[in-house]
Amino acid sequence: MKFFVDTADIAEIQELASTGLLDGVTTNPSLIAKSGRQFLDVIAEICDIVDGPVSAEVAALDYETMLAEGKKLSKIADNVAVKVPLTWDGLKTCKALSDEGIMVNVTLCFSANQAMLAANAGATFISPFIGRLDDMNLEGMDLIHDIRQIYDNDPDVETAILAASIRTANHVKDSALAGADVATVPPAILKSLVQHPLTDKGIEAFMADWAKTGQKIL
Ligand code: G3P
Repeated sequence: MKFFVDTADIAEIQELASTGLLDGVTTNPSLIAKSGRQFLDVIAEICDIVDGPVSAEVAALDYETMLAEGKKLSKIADNVAVKVPLTWDGLKTCKALSDEGIMVNVTLCFSANQAMLAANAGATFISPFIGRLDDMNLEGMDLIHDIRQIYDNDPDVETAILAASIRTANHVKDSALAGADVATVPPAILKSLVQHPLTDKGIEAFMADWAKTGQKIL
């Protein structure tokens, strides 16, 4: 399972990238708006910090403009993954960009049928939105299971399942169990994954006993 962080906050990205454990970044128009910064500048900065894929979403809804926006975004850096919505125009754009060797993340996926179309359009990533399905009292995780099974049935599918709209640490674990290849996780949840009270308690006991030995390693 690879971990992407779902944010446009440069400080958070820097902090997480410094661990060496960050595989990529996803942004969306809402996260860019929250950053209060210029979209193209933020994406360029993120691409300088992180070597892995950095998703940058088109703003247009029609094929021609989406394609032009996607090409412009892809020129920012080699690791830009152009993010397009799951519509016919988005899929057409995905096909055109992926035919040119540009990474594409097809976003706002809420059904297995949509995920099949995205794979056929050559998507690098499909982004099923777990939390937003849960919000509707549906079982978001079932979608990851279904897509995994469908993709595994077709040896030609190369699309990676990128679990998105992650709201809890359990969403991360359950996505991995369901066969997602990547989870894009908000910074606070990503940082919380390391925490366990028994780890803290164990460290406390080991430190107390170590102090009694009076020894030093360095
Ligand atoms: O990047 C897309 C996705 O992760 C959004 O999550 O919490 O707004 O549904 P959320």
